[in-house]
Amino acid sequence: MLSTLLHNHLLSWPVDWTAVFDREAPLIIEIGFGGGHFLVDLAQRRPLANVLGVEISLPALDKAQRKVQTAALSNVRVLQSDARYLLQALCAPESIAEVYINFPDPWPKARQLHRRLINEEFLHLLATRMVPGGLLDIGTDHADYALAITEALEATPYFHSRLATTFVTEDNERLRTKYEQIGLDEGRICHYYKWARRETAVPNPYPVPKEFPMPHVVLHTPMDLDAIQARYGRMRTNDEARHVSFMELFRANEGDALFVETYIKEEPVAQRLGLVIRQREPGNYVISLHELGFPRPTVGVQLAIAALARWLVSLDDEAHILHHNLPSQMLEVDVIHAA
Ligand SMILES: C[S@@+](CC[C@H](N)C(=O)[O-])C[C@H]1O[C@@H](n2cnc3c(N)ncnc32)[C@H](O)[C@@H]1O
Repeated sequence: MLSTLLHNHLLSWPVDWTAVFDREAPLIIEIGFGGGHFLVDLAQRRPLANVLGVEISLPALDKAQRKVQTAALSNVRVLQSDARYLLQALCAPESIAEVYINFPDPWPKARQLHRRLINEEFLHLLATRMVPGGLLDIGTDHADYALAITEALEATPYFHSRLATTFVTEDNERLRTKYEQIGLDEGRICHYYKWARRETAVPNPYPVPKEFPMPHVVLHTPMDLDAIQARYGRMRTNDEARHVSFMELFRANEGDALFVETYIKEEPVAQRLGLVIRQREPGNYVISLHELGFPRPTVGVQLAIAALARWLVSLDDEAHILHHNLPSQMLEVDVIHAA
């Protein structure tokens, strides 16, 4: 039997779920499964479906994995991931048959509202990944979040209610989740939404991110590594869609390379990785991606390598790029020194 626990760094963009589950079947996803009782129950009730549970909490993942193994289920997998990343990077358009979001974190304080998972933009992303007619079930025991979910669902053109109303406040047909039971015990009214993706086409502004061949730049500069290291300071790029920050710089033990700790944020992917400036012979350097930590060679990584090369070339009049495998316009990227 294949392992229940999926490892994010081994999953391609998008994932071939048929290969992961070792069979073709409708894909059902539970987002934020917490204790995992509902996930296990779902998989037991739906033996003909491939059931995927996604959680950001590692302890929750561990517990759910043990529950799945005790129940000897072969149609369920669990993955540590943020739901938005799962949907945009790991799921192909029109690939998900059903989605369950049970009692998502309400983030009740005004300054936390932006952290709430469900809003119109999220519903749009979800709609791009769900099959036409796919089912979406949401529950919440938080009155204010319920108002926001109601507003978002009523505003989105991509879903419609399967009920005569936007929501109901009782649902005794499904297994109660832990947070649902807490809400009921504490006297709160639960809101249950049973919606479906419309059959009409959904515009897709959320492309699956791409990976490129390992990027590199080869350049000439008369500077040696000590001189480069002495000129280095924290920097970032000014690109709106992709944020690149160059942080600490380290000298490799063998002495022929510099390692630049780099943070890259490009929705829905965030990576902290290492770029390497390696001296091949005096005056000749290659800038590339270190393989530590399974980095993904995205557009953001290409941009980071281009920015580092451009900075290096700017340090000396004789410095110039010899060759590279990046889109050429990227080498015009500007770097800004941190204050
Ligand atoms: C309030 S708990 C509800 C747990 C469970 N569904 C229940 O009803 O008992 C919300 C869960 O969602 C998870 N979560 C929050 N944001 C998430 C995200 N962006 N992606 C995946 N899981 C998330 C949290 O770690 C937490 O376990």
